[in-house]
Amino acid sequence: MLATLYAKALDADAEHPVLGDTYARDLVGRIDYDWGRTGLGARLAAVTMRTAHFDDWAREFLEAHDVATVLHLGCGLDSRAFRLRPGPGVTWYDVDYPDVTALRERFYPPTDNYRLVPASVTDSGWLSTIPADRPTLMIAEGLTMYLARDDGLTLLRRIVEGFPSGELQFDAFNRVGLAAESRNGVVRRSSSALGWAVDGPAEILAAIPGVRLITAMPASHATTFASVPRRYRVASRIVSVIPALKMMAQFHRYAFEKGPEA
Ligand SMILES: C[S@@+](CC[C@H](N)C(=O)[O-])C[C@H]1O[C@@H](n2cnc3c(N)ncnc32)[C@H](O)[C@@H]1O
Repeated sequence: MLATLYAKALDADAEHPVLGDTYARDLVGRIDYDWGRTGLGARLAAVTMRTAHFDDWAREFLEAHDVATVLHLGCGLDSRAFRLRPGPGVTWYDVDYPDVTALRERFYPPTDNYRLVPASVTDSGWLSTIPADRPTLMIAEGLTMYLARDDGLTLLRRIVEGFPSGELQFDAFNRVGLAAESRNGVVRRSSSALGWAVDGPAEILAAIPGVRLITAMPASHATTFASVPRRYRVASRIVSVIPALKMMAQFHRYAFEKGPEA
């Protein structure tokens, strides 16, 4: 969470920012932390292109639904709700562990349309506190890989069953990606444990009744990937000839809609 925030802050100061997240830059200035400890380097571009990509998908949903609920799961210190500025018909819920939401609250106080939910996303209780009367967008960026597979699938199932219609937008690693990420210095320094590898959309479609695939793509196929430095794009093209390497990091997007009651 601190590493992704710092990546966005550094990007905001770059000559040609990918995301231009000035909220992240301000937050890094206000939190007393030795930011060098996050150990970022080449990872910066991977983070900011991913965040810019999920901003684009969320914007598309919000343009089509001016009355909606957004469940932004594993929000960390990300400022998506403020970057996107949804209209008055949207209620936005930022969900993360209580210590994270307590920290968030100091910088982003809740309002009628912006709420903080202190909970593990895998607990069942918090979802029942969210009004289930509107199209609902679930965004989970940088989260699924930290969940156990069964917990992650149960979470997606609960959202699809609990809301009338909406979308699931999330990123995932396949098994190769998960193994590589577990060895990654940034993740190791954060003492995080990785758990759920998604090898492709078939796994989601088989496990979650009622979802329709909109798209699932390797991260390298996202339009925002064009913003990463050329050397990474070239390296990505070379490794992409091996399907398991091409699909190491994936972006998934599904729609769901309840049919009329029988
Ligand atoms: C890699 S960070 C990503 C943060 C943010 N989405 C971003 O892209 O900057 C992962 C976030 O997921 C949160 N997280 C992990 N497991 C969680 C769980 N079971 N319930 C709630 N939040 C969780 C962590 O606390 C952390 O804030």
